This record gives sequence, C-alpha cells and structure tokens, in this order.
Amino acid sequence: MQSTNADSDYKPMRGQMGKDVMWLQTAQNLVNQMLAMAQIKSDDVVYDLGAGDGIIPITASKLYSVKSVGIEYHQKLADFAKKNAIQAGVGDKVNIIKGDIFIEDFSKATVVTMYLLPELNLQLRPTILQMIPGTRIVSHAFDMGEWQHDQFYTDGKEKAYLWIVPAQAKGIWHLKDSDAKLDARIQIEQQFQSIGGTITYAGQQKPLLGAQLKGSQIQFQFVASDDSLFTVQATLNQNTMSGELWAWGRALPFEIQRQP
Ligand SMILES: C[S@@+](CC[C@H](N)C(=O)[O-])C[C@H]1O[C@@H](n2cnc3c(N)ncnc32)[C@H](O)[C@@H]1O
Repeated sequence: MQSTNADSDYKPMRGQMGKDVMWLQTAQNLVNQMLAMAQIKSDDVVYDLGAGDGIIPITASKLYSVKSVGIEYHQKLADFAKKNAIQAGVGDKVNIIKGDIFIEDFSKATVVTMYLLPELNLQLRPTILQMIPGTRIVSHAFDMGEWQHDQFYTDGKEKAYLWIVPAQAKGIWHLKDSDAKLDARIQIEQQFQSIGGTITYAGQQKPLLGAQLKGSQIQFQFVASDDSLFTVQATLNQNTMSGELWAWGRALPFEIQRQP
C-alpha cells in the first residue's frame, strides 16, 4: 500500500483560495458527463489543471482505467488528492503533481480537463492550441473566448464545453501527379477549427465546399471541370495532407504538400 504525507485530519474548505482560483469541486455527475464528452479510450492520458481533491483524475482512472495526472498548486490539497486516489484504489494510475499549471508541462495529455476562470482559460489557450491535434479539452463552466466549442452540455444549471485541438491546415498546398497532368493549388484559411478556401487548377478557381477539420482529419469537396463533385478525406501530418480523393464513384489515393 502506498503512503502519502497527507495530514490525516485535513479537509479542504469550499471557496478556499488557490493560487489563481479558489477550490470548488465539480459534482460527480458532471465529472462523469465531462469525461463522457471526451470519449476517453484506454490509451488516453488525462490531465486535470487545478486538480483540487482529485475528483476528475480519480474518476477518469476508475471509469476508464487510464493514466491520469492532476496538477494542484496547494500542497495540502495535492496531498489530500493523492490520499483520495489511494483510497479509491487507483493510486497506481493517478499521479498528483504539486505545481503551477502555468509552469508544469502538460503536453503529454490527450485529454485536458479544467474548472478555472474565463481569463485563465484564455491564458492557457495558446499552449493548448500547440498540443497534439485531436487532444480533447473539457472545461466546466467557462468558455475559450472566440474559440467556439465543438460540444456543449448543460443540465440547466451547470455547463461544460468540449473542444478538439485542430491541426494546422492553413496555407497553400500543392497537388501534382507524377506525370504533371494535374497541377492544382489549394489555399486554406483557418480560424481555430473553422476552415475554408479555394482550389485553383487549369486556370480556374473554385471554392472548397463543406470544408471541415476535426483534430487532424480534414474533409472538403469541390466541383471538378466536368461538373462532377470531388470529395477529399485526408489526415494532416505536419506539411503533408494524405488520404483519399473520391471522384466518379471511386477512391483514389491523395497526397499534397504544404508550400514552405
Ligand atoms: C475550481 S477548483 C477545481 C478543482 C477540480 N478540478 C474540480 O473540478 O473539482 C480549482 C483548483 O485549482 C487550483 N489552482 C489555482 N491556481 C492554480 C495554479 N496556478 N496551478 C495549479 N492549481 C491551481 C486551486 O487550488 C483549486 O483546487
């Protein structure tokens, strides 16, 4: 059995001040809902920023058997959370770090949860947007400013928001087939997960239709010169977009490169 330095009589007080925000606990049913929104898989790593008594990482590890980490600034709360994890039988899966969310590295997370404040969410946003595309972010109560959520939950009283970290799709992409019969240029504009753009080939510019970006998965359509509708479904990986181009009822391999 693991041991902690936790003061066995310590009990956190609702509203007690932390470094940047006070401690309030997310209710168990909302924790469950937030984790369900994140669609956690067994290989996910869940980080709770400002972990309080550890209810979110403990629940994640209990329900989904995943590794989870809570970052908590308040030493006694961090010790208390550790003790709670052991008592809940997930001491081996939950790591509580006594630290500052603005200093600790949480880039290994594939799911991030938080119950902070609107201005703290905005301060964290640039770091979050640099995370691995597809990372799910779930926030109790507060949004991310102009970064629109991908999913919203409310029971009429409490609220939770989900975002999926988008890949960088913005730029000019070149499609050239090996014998250079098809020479196309795709220009993509992006704001967070919203994308749009144009495709230029054979001297004609056409809009991208129904463009969607979810993590690293991109999809769009365009009308070809013979008026048939082409559909691209691809994965973004740094400066390569690869997948399939659906044209004339069949799938063709598709790969384009971003112009440096
Ligand atoms: C509103 S509580 C949320 C607790 C827990 N995540 C939950 O949802 O039940 C916010 C927590 O963040 C902690 N906190 C405040 N500023 C922090 C910082 N800069 N770094 C780490 N933890 C912080 C507080 O001590 C508090 O426990």
